[in-house]
Amino acid sequence: MNHKEFLESLVCPLTGTPLTLSEDQKTLTSEDGTVYEVGDTGIVNMLYPKELLPEDAREQYLYDQAFLRYDKGVSWVFETLNHSDEAATRKFFIDLMELKPGMKALEVGAGTGKDSALILDKVRPGGTAVLSDLSPNMLKLAQEKLNTDDVNAHYFLGNGSYLPFADDTFDAVFHFGGINTFSERKRAFDELTRVVRPGGKVVVGDESVAPWLRNTPTYATLLKANPLFRAEVPLEDLPANIENFKLHYIFGNAFYVMEYKVTSTAPEIDIDLPIPGKDFVDNWRLRAEKAVD
Ligand SMILES: C[S@@+](CC[C@H](N)C(=O)[O-])C[C@H]1O[C@@H](n2cnc3c(N)ncnc32)[C@H](O)[C@@H]1O
Repeated sequence: MNHKEFLESLVCPLTGTPLTLSEDQKTLTSEDGTVYEVGDTGIVNMLYPKELLPEDAREQYLYDQAFLRYDKGVSWVFETLNHSDEAATRKFFIDLMELKPGMKALEVGAGTGKDSALILDKVRPGGTAVLSDLSPNMLKLAQEKLNTDDVNAHYFLGNGSYLPFADDTFDAVFHFGGINTFSERKRAFDELTRVVRPGGKVVVGDESVAPWLRNTPTYATLLKANPLFRAEVPLEDLPANIENFKLHYIFGNAFYVMEYKVTSTAPEIDIDLPIPGKDFVDNWRLRAEKAVD
C-alpha cells in the first residue's frame, strides 16, 4: 500500500464515512467539513476529538515532554520488575499477533517505536504496518528511528478510541502501555476489535500487578509508589465478538498482556435446549425463571 492508497483508506474517525483528499494531497475533509492535515512530514493528523478529553490531553502533554528520556526510563522500569529481559518479552508479545510477511498490522500508542520495529520485521517483505500515537513528539522519534526497507510504513497521530479505518482492515492490531489511562477505554477496545478482520488477532497490554502478589511487601511498595500498577485487567471492556482469549502476566507479573481472536458474531447460548432425560423437562430458561435472585 503506497502513501496515496493509505490516505485513501482513511475514513472519518467518528462516523466511518469517506474523506475527501484534496488535489494537492495536503488535507482530508470529512462530510461535516472537519479538516485533517496530511502535511508533508509523513505523519497524518487524524486526532479526534480535536479538543481531547482531559485525561487524553494530559497523557499527550506528558509524553510530548518526556519523549527524549522515554526509552531509558521504560527500560529501567522493566529492569526493576524481576530484572526482566525487555527484548525477549517484547518479542513474546509481538509473536502473539501471528503476523506473516505481506500482512497488514496496526499499532496504537506506538510511542518511540520499540515494538514497531518488531512488527515491521514480521510483515516484511511487502507487508504494511500502520503506526500511530497520541503524542507528536513520540511518533516523530519512532519515524526517525525505524528502518522501513522492503515494507510499507504509514504514520498517523490518532486517538486509540477513534480509529480512522473501515471495519476488518487489518490482520492484527497491537497496543502496549497506555490503555489504562485512555479516557474512553471501552470505546478503544471496540475500535481495536472492529478494525481487525474475523480470525485476526488483537494483542493489548498495560500495568496491572497480578492479584496474588498485591499484598507481598515489595509489590505493596510498588503499588504505593505508582498507582498505575493498581489497575485491574479491563476484562469488562472487551467486546462480545471474540474467542480464544488468553491472559498473560509479564515483566515480573506487574503487567498483563491479553490476546484474542476476532469473530464475526458474538457467541450464543441456547437457553431453550431441553436438558436430556426422560423424567423431566428442563432448560436454562426454566431454571432461570425458578431461580430466586
Ligand atoms: C507507555 S507508552 C508505550 C509506548 C510503546 N507502546 C512502548 O511499549 O514502548 C504509552 C503510549 O501511549 C500513547 N497514548 C496515550 N493515550 C493514548 C490514546 N488515547 N490513543 C493513542 N495513544 C495513546 C502515549 O502517547 C504513549 O506514547
